[in-house]
Amino acid sequence: MAGAFHGRTVVVTGGTGALGAAVLDKLLDEGAICHVPTSHAASPKGFAFARHGRVTLSANVELGDPTSVEAFYATIPDLWASIHCAGGFAMSPLGQPGSDASDDIFAGMMDANARTAFLCCRAAARAMLASGTAGRIVNVTARPGLDPRRGAGMSAYTASKAAVAAITVTLAEELKGDGILVNAVAPSTLDTPANRKAMSKADFSKWVSLEAAAEAITHLASPENATISGALVPLYGRA
Ligand SMILES: NC(=O)c1ccc[n+]([C@@H]2O[C@H](COP(=O)([O-])OP(=O)(O)OC[C@H]3O[C@@H](n4cnc5c(N)ncnc54)[C@H](OP(=O)(O)O)[C@@H]3O)[C@@H](O)[C@H]2O)c1
Repeated sequence: MAGAFHGRTVVVTGGTGALGAAVLDKLLDEGAICHVPTSHAASPKGFAFARHGRVTLSANVELGDPTSVEAFYATIPDLWASIHCAGGFAMSPLGQPGSDASDDIFAGMMDANARTAFLCCRAAARAMLASGTAGRIVNVTARPGLDPRRGAGMSAYTASKAAVAAITVTLAEELKGDGILVNAVAPSTLDTPANRKAMSKADFSKWVSLEAAAEAITHLASPENATISGALVPLYGRA
């Protein structure tokens, strides 16, 4: 099969989620060999690629745990690109009496977004440096992570995604001499089934389609991207 990723090995964290699935779809079309970690003990219900010949699903991988992350990356031969879609979201209004912006929400957002991205970036960079591969790393931050004014009521999420943006740019600088390109996309609202359910009265046409987001991510992860590094790419749709 021809394709920009023909025969190249790519990790997609969060590949069992909405955006990750769209990224996998695109990568498989382009000939990639994909590895997907999941925190579950078995293939999550609805994971469409469980039987695909070029997808390996690794169960019981906790991406917030350094030992688990290192063990997972140690199983991946010839890593070309590592795409980090794993993450989470929670509201955390601070100023309202009775608000549920607990310390636990802050810790949970930092773990789900910043810590998972940090640990996966570290493991991927180490694997690429060890093999001498001038590979690609792509993180997923979010619009409030670049523009905190858009993060009112979600300071924990916003701070965690700002950390993802900072990790992306610092790592790009650190690895530029090694030819490893590190970037992130920053979506506003993605057009996912979960968002449609949670915001049923919203104008979905203003949201970013999963296919468009996947297209941007796979371009940054592909060998066709020869120069872009340290970019935080806004994917804001019509919002
Ligand atoms: N949806 C939006 O509107 C939106 C907007 C801006 C940015 N983003 C970002 O885009 C990314 C994907 O969003 P999405 O809507 O596709 O999310 P999603 O459907 O909820 O999927 C998130 C995935 O992350 C994985 N994950 C989370 N924490 C993990 C952990 N500790 N260990 C292992 N896996 C973990 C989960 O995998 P398992 O359950 O299999 O373990 C899950 O499949 C996230 O980083 C999100 O913050 C989303």
